This record gives sequence, structure tokens and C-alpha cells, in this order.
Amino acid sequence: ARITLRQLLDHAAEHGYGVPAFNINNMEQGLAVMEAAKDVDSPVILQASRGARSYAGDIMLGRIIDALEEMYPDIPLCMHQDHGNNVATCLSAIQHGYTSVMMDGSLKEDARTPSDYDYNVGITAEVARLAHMVGASVEGEIGVLGSLETGEGDAEDGHGFEGKLERHMLVTDPEEARRFVSETKVDALAVAIGTSHGAYKFTREPTGEVLAMEIIEKLHQVLPNTHLVMHGSSSVPKEWQEVFNAHGGDMRETWGVPVDEIVRGIKHGVRKINIDTDLRLAATAAMRKVAVTDPAEFDPRKFYKPAMDAMRSVCRQRFEAFGTAGNA
Ligand code: G3H
Ligand code: 13P
Ligand code: ZN
Repeated sequence: ARITLRQLLDHAAEHGYGVPAFNINNMEQGLAVMEAAKDVDSPVILQASRGARSYAGDIMLGRIIDALEEMYPDIPLCMHQDHGNNVATCLSAIQHGYTSVMMDGSLKEDARTPSDYDYNVGITAEVARLAHMVGASVEGEIGVLGSLETGEGDAEDGHGFEGKLERHMLVTDPEEARRFVSETKVDALAVAIGTSHGAYKFTREPTGEVLAMEIIEKLHQVLPNTHLVMHGSSSVPKEWQEVFNAHGGDMRETWGVPVDEIVRGIKHGVRKINIDTDLRLAATAAMRKVAVTDPAEFDPRKFYKPAMDAMRSVCRQRFEAFGTAGNA
């Protein structure tokens, strides 16, 4: 059954768990997440980026979601627009059946340049006003995602901005966050704590210097009733990096966000944890392995099936670690 982000995260807050939000672009990713959810009795957030919507097409992606809902009637399913860049993106998502939208006003509409506070409040409050009229939920973002190691801001396409950003822009200010939530009426708030999108988040195991988890605790103190969202929360597992590189892949040494740190965040109000890279890596590592171990194989299903198994196993691990399992 389809539910809103608000309904799901209210339940998560009441019961002290977090919910991974997995990005999907196609049937295989959707099936892998739902199978994992069924395995461990977990509610689900599926999210589509603007890139996903143009890759599959709104009609196709919408029907995939309809099909998943029908195939897994016992799994509560929230369908969310990831990183909406303007009002039209958010409203058209709702027209296609999404029950939740992110209005990412931390960046300007080009999704490549940081915006100012007034722009962010204005556009996010407008989306919240409209979405709430038709019963959809809204996620906003305050603070700019990016690396505290390099000062590089995180444009939506995973590439850095021109020029370096100062630390205060890359770490959400609790007082500004409190004001933002009261002025916009968002249901959930994405925060900047030094995580960035993609595989290359940290050049070594992250410490508090570059992964500002203590900000989560401060935010939870000033906003005890706001659901916090962590973007860029793939853990980039070493075991999948190894499979990828052992079969002709070329991923340089890198660290993601440790699962334990996310679990700590969940104790302090983190309710939605965005994960895309981990499923991409597991899927393509599994496909590379097939390509190398059986070079004669040309039936794509022989690639997709191990890819789905790999994604399903990552999803299961996250559902279990975040306490989502058992809450469907
Ligand atoms: O926000 C970033 C997500 O990983 C989506 O990435 O825009 O390449 O689909 P994408
Ligand atoms: P990752 O690149 O860490 O998977 O982050 C995904 C994300 O934040 C989508 O909005
Ligand atoms: Zn994101």
C-alpha cells in the first residue's frame, strides 16, 4: 500500500528506527528493494531523481511503482522525488503518483550553485503549501552537501562546484535549521554534515573532523519533532569494491559513511537515509563478475539476476542495521 513520507517517518520516530531511501531507475532495482523488504518485513522508500525520471520516462517509472505496489501488497511503500529543483518537478512527480517530494532549495534551479536562505525558504515553503493541499509530504534541505576534506560542494551530478566552500556552508547551522523548518513547514529536513554523493566521499576512514555527526545531536535537540534526512549515505562496502576491481573495474581506494555512524544518527532523529551508490556498485560489480568469469555469456538476464541478488543483499543489510526490519 502506498503511504506518505510523513506517515512512515512518524512511525519510525515513534518506534526509534530509520528507513533507507533507495534510488531506483528501472524494474531490476525496484524488484531487488521490494524482495529484500519482503524478506525482512520492512517498509520501503523508493526515490527517483530527475535523471531517473528522464532515463525510464515518467509513465514507465510510474507503472513500475504501480506494479511493485500490486506485487507486494503488504509492504508500505512511499514513492519520493529525490532532489526536486523547482516547483514543476515536484508537482509533476505528485501527478505521477509520488506521495512525497524533496524540494532541494539549497541549490539554485540549475542544481549546480548554492542558493541563499531567502530563495530556499521561499521555494520550499511554496512547494510545502501546494503538496500539503493534496496530501503529499515534503523534504527540504538546509546547508550544502559537500566534502569537509576538500571543501568541494556537491552539485547534483556528483561533480564539485567551481571554487571551494567554507566549512560553515557545508555544515548545517542548528539555529538556521530551526528557523527554516518553522518558516517552510517541511515534514523532513535534509542536513549537511560532510557527506557527499557518489563513491568518493572520504579518502580514509572518516573521523569527526570530516563527518560531523555531532551536528545531528545538536539538530535533534533544537528540532526534536523534525525527521532528519542524511544524503550521501552509501557506505561503499569494501567487499563490493573488491569484487568490482577484481573483475576489470577501476575504483580508487575510498570510504563511505560507516553503517555504525548512521545507526548512531538514528538514535538522534535521523529517519531517512539516502542510498544510491551502494546499489549501483553492488549491481555493476556483480555484472562485471559474470562478464569476466563467463565471457561467452550474452543473455542479459544472466547479468541482471546476479545484479538483483547483490542489490537485494545490500538492502537487507541496511533494513536490518537501521531497525527498519520487522516494521512493515
Ligand atoms: O542525488 C543523487 C542521486 O544519487 C541520484 O543520482 O541524478 O545520477 O540519478 P542521478
Ligand atoms: P549516495 O551517493 O551516497 O548513495 O547518496 C544518494 C543520495 O543522497 C540520493 O539523494
Ligand atoms: Zn541526495
